[in-house]
Amino acid sequence: MSSRIQPNTDPFALAREVSGHHVIDGKMTAPASGRMFDVVNPATGAVIGQAAEGGAADVDIAVAAAARAQKEWAKVPARQRGKLIAECGRLLNDHVEELGRLVALETGKALRTESRVEASVLADMFIFFGGLGSELKGETIPFNPDMLTMTLREPIGVVGAIIPWNVPLLLMAMKIAPAVVAGNSIVVKSAEEAPLTALRVVQLMQQVLPPGVVNILSGDGPACGAPLVAHPKVGKVTFTGSVETGKIVYKAAAEKLIPVTLELGGKSPMIVMGDADLERAVGGAITGMRFTRQGQSCTASSRIYVHDSIHDEFVSRLKAKVDAMKMGDPLDETTDIGTIISPDQFEKVGRYIRLGQETKGAKAHVCSALPTDPALNKGLFVQPVIFTEIHPDSPPAKEEIFGPVACIFRFTDYEEVIARANDSEYGLAATIWTRDLKTAMDATRRLEAGFVQVNQNLVVQATLSYGGVKNSGLGKEASLEAMLEHFTHKKTVIINMT
Ligand code: NAI
Ligand code: MG
Repeated sequence: MSSRIQPNTDPFALAREVSGHHVIDGKMTAPASGRMFDVVNPATGAVIGQAAEGGAADVDIAVAAAARAQKEWAKVPARQRGKLIAECGRLLNDHVEELGRLVALETGKALRTESRVEASVLADMFIFFGGLGSELKGETIPFNPDMLTMTLREPIGVVGAIIPWNVPLLLMAMKIAPAVVAGNSIVVKSAEEAPLTALRVVQLMQQVLPPGVVNILSGDGPACGAPLVAHPKVGKVTFTGSVETGKIVYKAAAEKLIPVTLELGGKSPMIVMGDADLERAVGGAITGMRFTRQGQSCTASSRIYVHDSIHDEFVSRLKAKVDAMKMGDPLDETTDIGTIISPDQFEKVGRYIRLGQETKGAKAHVCSALPTDPALNKGLFVQPVIFTEIHPDSPPAKEEIFGPVACIFRFTDYEEVIARANDSEYGLAATIWTRDLKTAMDATRRLEAGFVQVNQNLVVQATLSYGGVKNSGLGKEASLEAMLEHFTHKKTVIINMT
């Protein structure tokens, strides 16, 4: 076997090594303009590397390469395509430590609690989809005894994928793996704030895949993402990010009448009934709120409705647990909570915290403690905040904050809490905590969300369709259904045998 790229677990050296490139047609490629932008470590404010500043010219080159490659790739037997994607998964598995450290450095997410976990889930997502090649089946239809009638699942062509910064590796895997197993090629546009680890993943994949099947560009949304969506040869767009940008992407795709998958934000409810296992529910609020990811999750359980009979006890236990979490250097193994991604997000989160503090009657419980290490004094650290007695119509209670801010509401009546949980523009996820089977069953039917869980708060799982209703988006990801419905065309064929 030819020599493979060896893992590099020094994230500072690796950030410099991969700086300044896209991956197009199998090669590390400098941007057409020659321009770069800085990549910053949010824990210190230091520049750790440069990313290629992509634009319409880079999009043209990458899409042309992807279109050429796709013609040959579609001829590779489906199961063989899957095997190659699974091989990418195994290869990425050898790089979990490297990828975890690099993503911790560029996003500020703590290595032990978040970044290393994300890197291993990335590999797992490739291995999962790699097994699904032979599931790209059509049907036979009993239309007419003289006419053999069937459907064929065919690839769409070139997919454009736009990803955000909060979980760049997992989210790119959820797009690349099904698209490519289905016989498409793909051009990914990474987020401005987290371009380097995503680039590294695609660089590593080139050791297994033919050139041009998976390409990645870095660059600004309007300058590089918009021309990718608008490109005439891009036949499908898959996007994860804000509602605002999702609508722009949807409109641009409508101009070409191409299919779109959108995974947008959330303000997910968590309902804790009076009979719930309290300790378990408190643990569920910690994982649900993604406190270890500074709350930067579209699925964050940021509206927590607790029955009046256990409200005060719930709040004090939750506060104690969040207080015990350690904020610090994301690369330090003892750190539970790292930093916010960027100055813009830092400012946005701070604004919501101030708004909450100014809301009449609201109580703000500020948890944990800022790190004291002087090396981190420019870091974008935000202490987690738990609001109680906050008005449900105040902005922190209604809008997606994407920060470590939980709002806890008191309730007494079940009907009322279901109505309040559903009173949101979003519908991504919801949980209910109860020992009563009837309540659990009733709530799972009535909660308006794409993903409802009882007595637990798992994150996205390979095999389970993931995606929201209302303003949380369109379409599903992470499952066989997602691959079939969103990355193939169904062709109807009739063979007249008379
Ligand atoms: P964004 O939606 O603007 O960015 C996501 C991706 O879209 C990035 O790669 C960006 O470059 C790209 N993009 C931006 N404008 C574009 C355009 N006109 N055409 C094509 N692509 C474009 O999100 P941003 O600015 O990073 O964060 C703003 C808010 O969005 C956050 O505070 C959070 O509330 C929400 N968000 C939700 C995410 C989710 O997982 N659903 C992920 C990231 C942010
Ligand atoms: Mg934006």
